[in-house]
Amino acid sequence: MHDLVIKNIGELVVVPRGPIGGRSMHEVATMTNAAMIVQDGLIAWFGPEEKLESPAQCHVVDAQGGCVIPGLIDCHTHTVFAGTRENEFVKRLQGKAYAQIAEEGGGIRVSVEAVRSASCDELVELALPRLRRMLQGGVTTVEIKSGYGLTVDDELKMLEAVSKLKSLQPIELVGTYLAAHTTPREFADQPDAYLDLILDDKVLSRVRDEKLAEFCDVFCERTAFSVAQSRRVLETAKRYNLRPKLHADQITQIGASVLAGEVDAISADHLETIHDEGIAALTKAGCVAVLLPACSFFLGVEQAPARRMLEANLPVAIATDYNPGSSMVESLSLTLGIACTQMKMTPTEVLTAATANAASAIDRHNRVGAIETGMQADLVLLDVPNHHQWMYELGRNCVRLVIKKGEVVVGQA
Ligand code: NIG
Ligand code: FE
Repeated sequence: MHDLVIKNIGELVVVPRGPIGGRSMHEVATMTNAAMIVQDGLIAWFGPEEKLESPAQCHVVDAQGGCVIPGLIDCHTHTVFAGTRENEFVKRLQGKAYAQIAEEGGGIRVSVEAVRSASCDELVELALPRLRRMLQGGVTTVEIKSGYGLTVDDELKMLEAVSKLKSLQPIELVGTYLAAHTTPREFADQPDAYLDLILDDKVLSRVRDEKLAEFCDVFCERTAFSVAQSRRVLETAKRYNLRPKLHADQITQIGASVLAGEVDAISADHLETIHDEGIAALTKAGCVAVLLPACSFFLGVEQAPARRMLEANLPVAIATDYNPGSSMVESLSLTLGIACTQMKMTPTEVLTAATANAASAIDRHNRVGAIETGMQADLVLLDVPNHHQWMYELGRNCVRLVIKKGEVVVGQA
C-alpha cells in the first residue's frame, strides 16, 4: 500500500474522538493551509502545509483549497429492503397520518411482504446501488437493521444480506437485529408468542456466533412493542452480547427513552416526543441520542427538540433512517442540511453528529469519526473551502474524493 499525502487543504476540520457532549459539539478546531499524511490506512500526520515532510514513495492528492472532514457515518438505516411505498407518501400528503396508515394494514407490513418474497441475493442486488450512492456522498460506515422479515428465517436472511454486502463494496457495514420491529400479521393478537420465537436461544446464538449483528434494536411504540416487551427483548439480547438500541419516543411518549437509560442502551434513536425525564435518563446512562431529521421532514411532522438535548450536554448523533416508509432519503448530507434549518443546529454541530458521535452510537469511536493521528484514514475531500459552505449548499453533493482505510474509493488521487 502506497502512502498518501493530501496537500493544499483549505480547511481541515479537526473533529475530536466521540462521544462529544452537546455543549461542546460546536467547538471544533479547524486548520487552514493544512496537509496530511496517510500511512498503512491510518492518519499518520497532519499539520500546517509548510511543515509537511512527504515520504519518499507516495501518492499525492492536491486538495485545491477544498475542505477535508472525517468520512461520514450513517448510524441508523434500513438500507436492506425490497419494494417501495410511494402510495403511502401520497396518502400522507392528502392528510393520512403515518400511524393511521400502519393501523389500516399499510406501513412496515407492506415492506415485509416484499422482503419475504425476495431472496438474499436479490436483497443484496437491491442494496448495492444504494450503498454505492451513499459512498459517493462521502459515507464510509453504515449501520443496517433487519426488521422487514418478521420470521426467524427472513430476519436472518436480511442480516445475511448485510454480511454479503460487506465484501462487495468499500463501506464498512454494521448489522443490527431488529426482529422486534412490529408484530407480524400471523401473530396479530399474540406479540409475546412472536417474541418467544425471535428471542429463542438457537436464533440469538446464531446471530452472535455468525457475527450477523452487533446490536439489538426494538421499536418501542404504542403501535409496536410496549416498554415491558421492549425490556424483555433488549435484556434477553444482552445475554448474547447484542448491545441495546431503541426506536424511542417517535410518535407517542410511552417511556421508551427512560427504558433506554435503564437497559444501558448504546443509543436511543428518533426522540421526537422526548420529555425532560427522558433527557435526564439518557444523560445519566451516557446514551447517544440519535436524531433522524429526514424522517420527520419526510413525514411532515415536528422535529425532535435537538437544542434541548444539546443544552443538556447529551452526545447527539444524526442519521438518515433511510427506509421505504418513513424516510426514503439516502442522502446523509441532505439530512444534515435539514438538521441545520429545521433543528437549528450549526454546520459544526451536524458534522460532529455524523462523525464522532455517530461512531459512538455504533461503538466505533476509537477507530473512526475523528481526525487524530492513529485513527483509521476514512476521509472526505469536499469541493468547497469550508464546512459551513458545504451545509449552506443544501442538498448538493460537494464530495470530490473519498478515502476509505487509506485507499481512494471515489474520485482520483
Ligand atoms: O425508523 N419507526 C419505525 N421504523 C422505521 C420505519 C419503518 C417503515 O415505515 O418502514 C423508522 O422510522
Ligand atoms: Fe429506523
